Amino acid sequence: MINLHDIRYLRMGTADLESSIKYATDIIGLQLAAREGKAAYFRSDKVAVRGDTRDFSLMLFEGDPTDHTIGLDLRDPDDLDAVGAVLEDAGHKVHFGTREECDARRTKHFIASHDPSGNKIEIVARPYHSGVRYFPGRDAGIDGFSHIGLFTTDAERDTKFWTKLCNARISDWLGGSPFLRLNTVHHSIVLFPSNRTGIHHINHQVEDLDDVMKSYYFLKANNIRIIHGPGRHPISTAIMVYFEGPDKVTYEYSCGVKHVMPEEEATYRPRQFTLDSYNACMWGSRAAEIAAAAKAPQQEWPARVVV
Ligand SMILES: [Fe+2]
Repeated sequence: MINLHDIRYLRMGTADLESSIKYATDIIGLQLAAREGKAAYFRSDKVAVRGDTRDFSLMLFEGDPTDHTIGLDLRDPDDLDAVGAVLEDAGHKVHFGTREECDARRTKHFIASHDPSGNKIEIVARPYHSGVRYFPGRDAGIDGFSHIGLFTTDAERDTKFWTKLCNARISDWLGGSPFLRLNTVHHSIVLFPSNRTGIHHINHQVEDLDDVMKSYYFLKANNIRIIHGPGRHPISTAIMVYFEGPDKVTYEYSCGVKHVMPEEEATYRPRQFTLDSYNACMWGSRAAEIAAAAKAPQQEWPARVVV
């Protein structure tokens, strides 16, 4: 069993690094922490909320915009060798990071592998924390990078990878999409059935409803495409707004996500929700991807979200 603690970072290629940096800082409200060659590192974590501050939570590099890698943090860094063996035994190729590769990921150690769909994952041991306070250029109210939507070419197979090989638990299903939790947060990874791999959307938690609504008007004023919301997900109780970023990546701000506390783990049962639009947003905001997914024969989620 691979005992994961949390999602740690994303590494993503971008076609235009300079404009992506500008978007990440001026629109999303991340802090540019470092630039190294053709890569940029961004921070997002408020210590008072997370209890720690990751050295970075998003790394963008000049390259293929479909090249996405998920960093995951282990509960016990001493497990790393055993994790490599578990993955290899299950037929997943494993690469132990070189010193140079570890430095580029701000960690003492890591191993690289893939989920069964082929999504690139990196499991880090003793990743670096920062003693410097997160100080963004735009006050979007961000508390921290919190979860991702991840495309899967076979949701049932990949659910087994995350829940049997790893310690993820299913919090709920929306149609064929499982919401997977690694700690108390209702979901850190949500799988979206598709014919492609990579990141479906990137979530940052914000402090409260005011931040969601302030950003909604800010995004509209800056001609940023709103994809879904403002609204509230009944599944996780989170209030959210989704919007389109560079390279057609979808970003989300949300607040108020449900937690499943340790004392609830033994009795918690995941719930199955249908893909009806009121299960995506109880306030009535509509996302065409929900409607399209409900009609698709295999509940495939379109790669390109259109409202
Ligand atoms: Fe989300």
